[in-house]
Amino acid sequence: MGRGRILVAGGGGIAAYKLPELVRALRGAGHEVRCMLTPAAANFVSALSLGAVSGAPVRQSLLDPGEEGEIGHIELADWADLIVVAPATADLMARMAQGLADDLVTTVLLASRAPVLIAPAMNVHMWEHAATQANLAVLEARGIARVGPEAGELACGWEGLGRMADPETIADEAERLLGAKSLAGERVLITAGGTREPIDAVRAITNRSSGKMGYALAAEAAARGAEVVLVSAPTALRCPAGVRRVSVQTALEMHAAVRDEIAEVGVAICCAAVADFRPAQASERKIKKEDLAPGEGLLLELVPNPDILAEISRDRGARVVVGFAAESHDVVAAARRKLARKGCDLLVANDISREDAGFETDENAVLLVSPTGDVEELPLLPKREVARRVLDRVAKLRDTHGETESS
Ligand SMILES: Cc1cc2nc3c(=O)[nH]c(=O)nc-3n(C[C@H](O)[C@H](O)[C@H](O)COP(=O)(O)O)c2cc1C
Repeated sequence: MGRGRILVAGGGGIAAYKLPELVRALRGAGHEVRCMLTPAAANFVSALSLGAVSGAPVRQSLLDPGEEGEIGHIELADWADLIVVAPATADLMARMAQGLADDLVTTVLLASRAPVLIAPAMNVHMWEHAATQANLAVLEARGIARVGPEAGELACGWEGLGRMADPETIADEAERLLGAKSLAGERVLITAGGTREPIDAVRAITNRSSGKMGYALAAEAAARGAEVVLVSAPTALRCPAGVRRVSVQTALEMHAAVRDEIAEVGVAICCAAVADFRPAQASERKIKKEDLAPGEGLLLELVPNPDILAEISRDRGARVVVGFAAESHDVVAAARRKLARKGCDLLVANDISREDAGFETDENAVLLVSPTGDVEELPLLPKREVARRVLDRVAKLRDTHGETESS
């Protein structure tokens, strides 16, 4: 058996002529490959060549008794460890975003639980069209990975973004996604959301954290085979499949939940925005204006909350501990100082002064800061992709910790 089972789904674009090369690159890396084509794709690449280079029959039609009898479409959906859609045409992306199942390719995509990688290719205006960009946003929010498109001279004569990524680049990305099962058997604790510190029966001090980054990390860690516990402050988000959620409200509750779970985990990622302070006393009853003299202000005394990240960093042993920081200015220096203060293995710093990233958005632009002071700056990316990059670093840290432990 190959290292991974990759199902290549061809769409109807000029770049489909590169599919035999892609299949060869994937097989060259040791994977087992099967192909399926949309009816449009079959005009651009022959099933005969793909069958020959993949070493397996190519499926093209959903409602063909002969094809269905040989390899059923559900069997194909279940068989794949990864589905690579290349070229992902504007039409195919739209149908995927809509959840249509009107041909073999879209039906298999809907029926499969395998991760999906798309390699878009189209005319630059089609790519830039608001409809295509909206469909892309839907697909990426669903966790679909993307490679390309690249800029250059296009087959249609225009120049710009729209060229399909090279087959080698697509194969590398597929490799990365498959290799990404690296957290199998690992127990991972993630904190997420903004804690809520009660003032009285109805009011609370909280912050703008939506929890989206922590939930993306939890979904990605689970997709990589980890056993994930998500200690979550209040959010409106759905708990990702395969993740165990422990819901908390306050920093003290989050602290207690983390302490309950921490001994069992090999990786802890503190992504929650934990309030540094809480009201010294929360009134059980609603504080009424009438309880105060006219014009009198209300003084709240705040007391410090436990520093969860510093505490678990201090007692971490062989455990990998990652912290998040939200900084509004002088981000690199502030992140380095925070990392030194907390003592974690990696600090992920958000620049919250950017309008397009950070709190409440679906995208994030972060810096990864190491204890050596090294800084990796990531571009603006969907939070799920940021999660992938962070977990790639976690897997490496875990390997180096393992080596240090055993040496
Ligand atoms: C010569 C030719 C080239 C085409 N190239 C592309 C392309 O590169 N990208 C794209 O999105 N659509 C392209 N199209 C349009 C698609 O073929 C068309 O939208 C089709 O419905 C896509 O089918 P699919 O959903 O099976 O991919 C092209 C059409 C023609 C006639």
